[in-house]
Amino acid sequence: MNRAERLATLRAKRAEALLGGGEKRIIAQHKKGKLTARERIKLLLDSDSFEEFDMFVQHHCTDFEMEKQKYPGDGVVTGCGTIDGRLVYVFAQDFTVIGGSLSKMVSEKICKVMSMAMKMGAPIIGLNDSGGARIQEGVDSLAGYADIFLKNVMASGVVPQISAIVGPCAGGAVYSPAITDFIIMDKKNSYMFVTGPKVVKTVTNEDVSTEMLGGAMVHAQKSGVCHFVTETEEETYKLIRNLLRYIPNNNLEDPPVEVCSDPVDRYCENLNSIVPDDPSKPYDIIDIIKSVFDNGEFLEVARYFAPNIVIGFAHLNGHSIGIVANQPKYLAGCLDINASKKAARFIRFCDAFNIPLICFEDVPGFLPGLKQEHGGIIKEGAKILYAFAEATVPKITIIVRKAYGGAYCVFNSRHLRADLMYSWPTGEIAVMGPKGAVEIIFRKEAKKADNPEEYLQKIEEEYREKFATPYQAAQKGYIDDIIEPAKTRARLIRAMEMIASKRDSNPAKKHGNIPL
Ligand code: HXC
Repeated sequence: MNRAERLATLRAKRAEALLGGGEKRIIAQHKKGKLTARERIKLLLDSDSFEEFDMFVQHHCTDFEMEKQKYPGDGVVTGCGTIDGRLVYVFAQDFTVIGGSLSKMVSEKICKVMSMAMKMGAPIIGLNDSGGARIQEGVDSLAGYADIFLKNVMASGVVPQISAIVGPCAGGAVYSPAITDFIIMDKKNSYMFVTGPKVVKTVTNEDVSTEMLGGAMVHAQKSGVCHFVTETEEETYKLIRNLLRYIPNNNLEDPPVEVCSDPVDRYCENLNSIVPDDPSKPYDIIDIIKSVFDNGEFLEVARYFAPNIVIGFAHLNGHSIGIVANQPKYLAGCLDINASKKAARFIRFCDAFNIPLICFEDVPGFLPGLKQEHGGIIKEGAKILYAFAEATVPKITIIVRKAYGGAYCVFNSRHLRADLMYSWPTGEIAVMGPKGAVEIIFRKEAKKADNPEEYLQKIEEEYREKFATPYQAAQKGYIDDIIEPAKTRARLIRAMEMIASKRDSNPAKKHGNIPL
């Protein structure tokens, strides 16, 4: 072959590889309302930035006449590119090639980009659309999955890992996304389950649809597996690009800083009247978050799961912040099993990736009841406490209203190494709410009174005046200042400047033993 022929061969081979499983399969993929792997990568990355690797890799299986089903690149497209100019590594399973099923070589391609992402300190983004382990390859394919799981675990806390589910994700294959930091599912085509509807029917005799078993909303609302739900996969790629604005490329870097156009001393008049006079009345904590942070932008994470706690990212004077806030609109903002699990994982992500934490507190306590106790609120509730306590990033708490009992202790308190504690004048910091407290400590006196109810009410008012305020805690130095709500933004910006250089660490150990 002369040089011209060699060049022509290369061009022909590349053109063939770019077609994945071929024209017919591409049409079938589009008919299902799904994009091809390369179309997806194009939408995700900056234009023209994709560098593909391993385009000519092929599987080596010869069982079941698999030698007749070979496609250059096999069932995944891998490589690197940029998002807003920042390096990221990416793999996109190619459903047009044998249903995107995972062969040993597909696994090796994925593991290669994961290793490179770790070496270069760049996020790894996986686009999942696959029929699972390639059945014809037997144990080789299982080995391939296990190799990926190991890489996921090694990369955890080193580089951000993001999974988009843009098709089926079934069997043990779900455990790779499960280890990653964020899972995004679209309402149209994505689903995740360990065993599909047919197996469920055989084993438990339950009739369930794919959607009911593992659709986006199920995992967003019920299981908490999914962090973001989108309407379409196009929206998924936009969301990933937005998410990356808040997170650094690796655990040794700080998150990117944006130019801030929002005045640092913006007076948030609305905050002075946002907390109702009646302590039992709810309000929306997200209104406070949006008022305080830059340009009212807030990227909420896991919105539909445990809505009694709100977590997400925002910028403060251009710096990325992880926010944890009780939501009085749901369950009065109580901490329960799911809220604790949801917040704990987020706090640990922020801590691993140098993202400071700001917490807004309005929590009447842990949710009481048989369901919670039997469900293990003791060990599950310990998760949020553990996560706050071990976090060494800059940490600030603003007590907006209630900070009662155990919830005061565990919710990023001074005692768990919060660097700064502020309270609004509406703060109520005590062992328990006025009603419960007076019933316990004045029960005997009330019985002796002419009108027990009137007596208790009077004592309750006295208790409220004395203890349901932030002043006792301020007198003891447990909180650093009581601030005017409207000045929260300005105060937080100054506070963050004060503690940005914080260095703190935990005792040397192999790893802690968070109650799981
Ligand atoms: C080999 C597979 C495959 C697989 C799909 N295909 N899954 N080939 N191994 N796992 C092939 C199909 O035979 C078909 O080829 C082509 O891909 C497209 O699949 P369709 O079924 O036509 O597509 P669709 O109707 O959209 O259905 C998609 C699907 C279905 C729901 C994913 O294909 C399916 O149920 N696949 C099997 C899922 C599964 O049980 N996987 C194993 C899970 S266990 P042709 O040539 O006929 O068009 C597992 C263990 C992992 O993954 C363990 C890790 C710890």
